[in-house]
Amino acid sequence: MESIKVFAPATVANVACGFDIFGFAVDSPGDELIVRQSAQPGVRILDIIGDEGRLPREAARNTAGIAIQSYLAHIGRDDVGVDLILHKKMPLGSGLGSSAASAVAGVFAINELLGNPLERIDLLPFAMEGERIACGSAHADNVGPSLMGGFVVVRSYNPLDIITIDTPHQLFATIVHPDIEVNTKDARYILKNEVSMKNTITQMGNVAGLIAGLMKPDYSLISRSLVDVIIEPIRAILIPQFKEVKQAALDAGALGCSISGSGPSIFALSCDQNTATNVGNKMQNAFASAGIGSEVYVSEINQQGPKIIG
Ligand code: HSE
Repeated sequence: MESIKVFAPATVANVACGFDIFGFAVDSPGDELIVRQSAQPGVRILDIIGDEGRLPREAARNTAGIAIQSYLAHIGRDDVGVDLILHKKMPLGSGLGSSAASAVAGVFAINELLGNPLERIDLLPFAMEGERIACGSAHADNVGPSLMGGFVVVRSYNPLDIITIDTPHQLFATIVHPDIEVNTKDARYILKNEVSMKNTITQMGNVAGLIAGLMKPDYSLISRSLVDVIIEPIRAILIPQFKEVKQAALDAGALGCSISGSGPSIFALSCDQNTATNVGNKMQNAFASAGIGSEVYVSEINQQGPKIIG
């Protein structure tokens, strides 16, 4: 194989109570990446479409480029040369795991191109390198689900321990992306370094409750557990209309609603597709009432992760 085109899905990280440890993948949006073998060793970015010229074209500063470079260094194939064409099919700085999807597309594509010398799960540390340069932190709650599909728990970062858990088939996610941008670095900077014992206990109960609720499945338990008392109250100030949009989702029957990743996108979970669609309309209206335009995505939990599309 000399060339491959892949898709890697967007993700919702944190999922309310699981800051840096929970994430799930959705069917759309996502990034597309073409990786072509070249006679000249090294990684080059030929073109990036859909980013309005904002992403670095230098491979070592681009999430897909750095992920491929660290993968090639690890397997001792510095002789390999590849040219990349990245098609960004999701907004930047949106809280949808845009940098993660590019990094995952990169490592998945190069591994396929070279005949899969590494298992899928072993690609994760290289994709995390992409996150490190994108936002200063190598968190895995976007790259994990984008790479593995499904709902992912990062049980430990050191050593890295990733678990994929079952979710109910009827569970649908609604994501509303308002036309504003939040930088992940900034959204992490404003967080407090210390958490009270009271909030820790509440959050641990919700973390355990959400996992149990998803696996049983028990929608009422999922609903009661989709609560974040630590991060959401701080980050909500970065998103105009957050309170109104969240209330609109809950009034329309969502099981729960919170910030997607570091925002500004807001996600909701619902127990069927019709409700998820209606929830999206109501959330969009709540943004519109303050003059903020938005895009709505409704999707099942994507179980596949990245895939070859050409
Ligand atoms: N867990 C990360 C955060 C996700 O909330 O900062 C960023 O996309």
